[in-house]
Amino acid sequence: MASKVTVIGTGNFGSTVAFILAMRGSCHEVVLRGRNVDVAKGKALDMSQAANAAREHTIVRAAEGPEDMKDSQIVVITAGAPRTPGMSRDDLLVKNAEIVKNYSLEIKKYAPNAIVVVVSNPLDVMTYVALKYTGFPRERVLGMAGILDAARMAHFIYEKLGYGAGQIRATVMGGHGDTMVPLPKFTTVAGVPIDDLLDSEEIGEIVKKTRNGGAQIVNLLGDGSAYYAPAKSTAVMVDAILKDTKQIHSCAVMLQGEYGYSDMVSGVPVMIGAGGAEQVIEMTLKTLQRTRFKNSLASVKDMVDALYANHFFDDCDKVESQAKESTKNEK
Ligand code: LAC
Repeated sequence: MASKVTVIGTGNFGSTVAFILAMRGSCHEVVLRGRNVDVAKGKALDMSQAANAAREHTIVRAAEGPEDMKDSQIVVITAGAPRTPGMSRDDLLVKNAEIVKNYSLEIKKYAPNAIVVVVSNPLDVMTYVALKYTGFPRERVLGMAGILDAARMAHFIYEKLGYGAGQIRATVMGGHGDTMVPLPKFTTVAGVPIDDLLDSEEIGEIVKKTRNGGAQIVNLLGDGSAYYAPAKSTAVMVDAILKDTKQIHSCAVMLQGEYGYSDMVSGVPVMIGAGGAEQVIEMTLKTLQRTRFKNSLASVKDMVDALYANHFFDDCDKVESQAKESTKNEK
């Protein structure tokens, strides 16, 4: 069967995800879905032509409406208001929750078998919203972030060392926010623990820079947030699903008892394959790491609770029962 990926959002982030997939020939078809159909068409044409220049077979086309998501194996949600200088990821909460909710309902209707990759911010909360409104099992709703945060940490380690680029395996858990949990103890350069290469003060600085990695770029750009590394990190997840690699990546998933938490979304190591988040991997954490992870979960939970308090999820059960109703009617 032809492989098809829909990318929702034609801003810098969504376009770059689509472009990377097209340049790698990751799938047969990429559908670009944006509010402005002409812009989506223009970008799709440009990318299809680039794929020809790259001698890849991927065709990029624009969606005219939600029905064009039909038969997508993967739908990536990048849509949302971007962060501007001084704005935290959390400020975007309610605005983006509405956007992600509406797209989730469309995915449920038009691409009911798709795996959803969420990258809108605040990412862990948006993944929770997508889970609730698609009603999909947790295997099929993943948030991107750990790959990005680990890539940033790897870059800052390289900056400090001056060598090892491309050989650094960094690990970051927790939410994609100010309380993310970089794990230097689980970080190596070609297998050499960073403890043996850097002192604790230097490592502390790297941890801080990693947490601030997104904001640093927001401030430098002055208009919008990072997109090359976020898009590449998203494409890594899409490729892992399409190619059924069964490799481990840090992603945001719904915890179902792992690490002692349930009904909460957070970044943890996940084995990704054709089924999506096929297995959640539990690492043994030391007390301090466990405390930091707990704090990170608490900050995500605060935002989810704020949405509940705003009655955001009030229609969620109704949506589920309506869906049951319509399946009944179809029978
Ligand atoms: C960042 C945005 C994508 O971290 O969250 O750059």
